[in-house]
Amino acid sequence: MLPQPTVEQALAAFTLPEKLGFGRISAPVMFSATYEKGEWSEGRLIPFGPIELMPNARSIQFAESVFEGMKAYRVPPARPHLFRPLDNAGRFARSATRVGMPAVPESLFLAGLDAVASACADFIPTRSGSSLYLRPTLFSTEGGYDVVNSGAFRFLVLASPSEPYSSGPMRVRIERDDVRAARGGVGAAKTGGNYAAAMRATTRAVADGCTVSLWLDPQQRQTIEELSGMNIFAVIDGEIHTPVLSDSILPGITRDSVLRLAAHSGYRTVERPMPIAELLADIAANRCSELFASGTAAIINPIESLLDADGRQHRPGASAVALRLRQSLLDIQEGRAQDPFGWIHRL
Ligand code: COI
Repeated sequence: MLPQPTVEQALAAFTLPEKLGFGRISAPVMFSATYEKGEWSEGRLIPFGPIELMPNARSIQFAESVFEGMKAYRVPPARPHLFRPLDNAGRFARSATRVGMPAVPESLFLAGLDAVASACADFIPTRSGSSLYLRPTLFSTEGGYDVVNSGAFRFLVLASPSEPYSSGPMRVRIERDDVRAARGGVGAAKTGGNYAAAMRATTRAVADGCTVSLWLDPQQRQTIEELSGMNIFAVIDGEIHTPVLSDSILPGITRDSVLRLAAHSGYRTVERPMPIAELLADIAANRCSELFASGTAAIINPIESLLDADGRQHRPGASAVALRLRQSLLDIQEGRAQDPFGWIHRL
């Protein structure tokens, strides 16, 4: 291993570039804690850099790993604040439990976020839509070729000063061949394997000029589920519809925020199974006026078109509802509006 700088040296050497993109710039420090013999270590801030890991670690071999995506914001001169971190803590614990890993205690999860967001306060971008993206990550460090849960784990909180995932309206490719997650599987857990399952489809989507894939249900491939890393919404006859959660859909915290914000703003919201054939017919008949994606990284992002396997583009055309909800969400997240939901967590 190369000699590592101290935390102070790493922080002092870092400058925030003008152009950030999403997840491209790593913050100079990270929080690290370990789990061994049934106990969590206290955890501490260390410089961001390479880590040592056995090549047969089950996190590498079997994706024995889970993660979260969340954000820290700053309104100078106040200290940084987080958005719904206890919801992320809960989902992180449920994801770990689903794959048989020990859950990170909520107090350790929050300590890690606080340590990283506070140390990086000067690097939290304040341009609207930008933030410090936080990536709590839990993975096994024990080596083994057998398919059993490990006894040793590491918890890291990584960070990246970031812009939104997409810089404009997205084109989405309907994935008719692969499926992302099975009934009774791990699709509702934020575990690495779900994202591996999505990558070939994303490559196909990008080759076709799109950003992400739209997944269909794993059994019949008839109802829409989610996008890779985002949930999906449709504005139909002025109502806001989204697929009802199942064990193959990630329960997005932004998804929940959209539903609550929309209801608070007077929209009727509907969670239901959404057949793809019906959605395409609703777009053609102008009943579905807009589609949009939600996610921590994506925020709320209009979808300009759905590309089907037959090459047809389906364009709902509008984006006013998505943009209004996006502004309301950002106003709360970025401290310009009252937070009637108790979502803001001050450090
Ligand atoms: C997020 O929105 O935080 C995600 O985890 C989605 C993706 C960037 C992996």
